[in-house]
Amino acid sequence: MTNLKPFQPTPDADTVLITGVAGYIGGQTALAFHDAGWRVIGVDNLSVGTRDTVPECVEFIHADCRDPDLAARIAPFNPVAAVHFAGLIRVDESVRKPVDYYDVNFCAAGAFFRTVQALGIEALVFSSTAAVYGDGLNGPITEDTPLSPASPYGRSKLATEWMLRDFCTSSGARAVILRYFNVAGADPQGRRGPRRDATHLIKRVAEAAVDPSRTMMIFGNDYDTPDGTCVRDFIHVADLAQAHVAAVAYLLNGGDSVTLNCGYGTGFSVHQVIARAAAIIGRKFDIRIAPRRAGDPVFVVANPGLLQKTLNWVPQYNDLDKILRAAIKWEWRMTRPVQMPAPRTNDKVDHGTAPCDPQPDIRM
Ligand SMILES: NC(=O)c1ccc[n+]([C@@H]2O[C@H](COP(=O)([O-])OP(=O)(O)OC[C@H]3O[C@@H](n4cnc5c(N)ncnc54)[C@H](O)[C@@H]3O)[C@@H](O)[C@H]2O)c1
Repeated sequence: MTNLKPFQPTPDADTVLITGVAGYIGGQTALAFHDAGWRVIGVDNLSVGTRDTVPECVEFIHADCRDPDLAARIAPFNPVAAVHFAGLIRVDESVRKPVDYYDVNFCAAGAFFRTVQALGIEALVFSSTAAVYGDGLNGPITEDTPLSPASPYGRSKLATEWMLRDFCTSSGARAVILRYFNVAGADPQGRRGPRRDATHLIKRVAEAAVDPSRTMMIFGNDYDTPDGTCVRDFIHVADLAQAHVAAVAYLLNGGDSVTLNCGYGTGFSVHQVIARAAAIIGRKFDIRIAPRRAGDPVFVVANPGLLQKTLNWVPQYNDLDKILRAAIKWEWRMTRPVQMPAPRTNDKVDHGTAPCDPQPDIRM
């Protein structure tokens, strides 16, 4: 089913429940719902996120998704849809602590689905990942590309997808499963960005952009790609957040359960990303080539055709430079909050650059 009708929250159906709301994508999505006129109830156990990373617009419940009292605490808010972000996300850590990953990503999700059922919510969006696909792919990935997750993280997410489908079949709920590719960037209005301890490539590039003493590590430059480095599809976090708003609208308009890849369909190599960032900041990075990392797939690029068609999703920030500028600007704010000048009055999205540093003007 295709959703082409916008869904406007109404007084009877104006509240969305978001787990993992203190996190990078959950928090950005809370802002997107708020901006679209929704009331947002957010849950997080603050195991990774912190209280100050919960957006102010969120009515916050500090709880674990496994909390048996969660349904009772949420019920007075009467949410009509739920978006489940809460989880652990580090592939390398999942190899060392697989049971933790199954415990949080699978078991806590199951407990949350029970809460959703107790609340009578029938529209559910789940954060999945391109890590459910395997390696050895060299073309854009469609939703029916064979599944072969290479890590406990990917397997815990795929297992949860299966549980969610079975849950929907038995309960009558409907779900949109969104498989994210590489999420990057920061809020275009400067309200939030990646966590300080995030380890994604663009976060690392942003750190090296604002701190010339940092070295950029490239893990493997002998892959079978044009420049020898891995290729990824980077999706701006604000576009991804918008896809969640569209997914909830789709479900509330009666859409069937569906699984959708979230990317732009364009791949950039690690070298290309670093070169673009170098052009933006006007200096080269100190680069070191390190050995390949276990489990890094060579080529991970989405075919977003089904996402665009099903949700009528039109990205606003499909531009690597925009993603990099937003990420660098956020990093600048995080590392030099005291030195930030007031925003220029004629430029609402540009939060300025510090005047006392050779940092170039980074505009969105
Ligand atoms: N960041 C990415 O590039 C990416 C890519 C693919 C998929 N995803 C998925 O998106 C989701 C969100 O990712 P993110 O980058 O925002 O992660 P994040 O670590 O920034 O946020 C996750 C949040 O979930 C909370 N949380 C963890 N376990 C919980 C529990 N049991 N109960 C309540 N809260 C809990 C944490 O405190 C944290 O605030 C995850 O499910 C992840 O698997 C992320």
